[in-house]
Amino acid sequence: MKVYFVGAGPGDPDLITVKGKRLLEEADLVVYAGSLVKDTLLKALKAELMDSNGASLEQTTRRIIGALQAGKKVVRLHSGDPSLYGAILEQMKPLEDAGVEVEVVPGVSSLFASSAALKTQLTLKGVSESLIITRPAGTTLEKDELTALSQHGTTLAIFLGIDKIRDIIASLDRPADTPVAVVYHASWPDQTILQGTIADIAGKVEAADIKRSALILIGGVVQRTGFRRSHLYRDR
Ligand SMILES: C[S@@+](CC[C@H](N)C(=O)[O-])C[C@H]1O[C@@H](n2cnc3c(N)ncnc32)[C@H](O)[C@@H]1O
Repeated sequence: MKVYFVGAGPGDPDLITVKGKRLLEEADLVVYAGSLVKDTLLKALKAELMDSNGASLEQTTRRIIGALQAGKKVVRLHSGDPSLYGAILEQMKPLEDAGVEVEVVPGVSSLFASSAALKTQLTLKGVSESLIITRPAGTTLEKDELTALSQHGTTLAIFLGIDKIRDIIASLDRPADTPVAVVYHASWPDQTILQGTIADIAGKVEAADIKRSALILIGGVVQRTGFRRSHLYRDR
């Protein structure tokens, strides 16, 4: 008995891996989070679909094990890459305890779709050699580390926080002119990019009425300037 945890990619159905797509097409049951996985990826499948939104972990686990015991092939589909805010381990543990093998198939994170949308690099010579991925406190996280993390001066990628943009920005310890980009629905047809600074990005997000499905990227890399050439392409 085996379950595949598959990264669906950021939204564009062409941005799932070849392996992920094959597994989806072969699946008899696909469990997915309705709000995060785009319908276009699911509509042509022969599989039975289960939206995990509103279902408890126990219900989902029971459904998966039931399908496996009936000889069915099961895919658990996660948005982007399952390793980022995917809560996959808590799903895997009860499955593994029940003797189910798991395999993870990576996906294109919305982080990478966002940097592609901005046509930039997240690590850029002379601007930032490091990337911090984090999220703000909220219903499922008591305390965040945004202030301390921002003090490193690296590129900062903030998931799951666009509805708290004003609080997030207020907690950052970075100069007011630090560049910030917000990418809403990266790779979707309605992808929207907002560019600003710590001083004005919250107002721009509120004016655009963006309240979910967006990534906040902070640091000079979003401006595509100020970098130095790498050694890779130096004349020899
Ligand atoms: C539960 S997390 C899942 C992240 C996912 N595992 C990934 O790698 O992209 C959901 C958050 O990811 C971000 N997100 C997901 N899809 C996005 C997209 N297409 N464009 C921008 N941000 C997205 C948003 O910050 C959203 O609140």
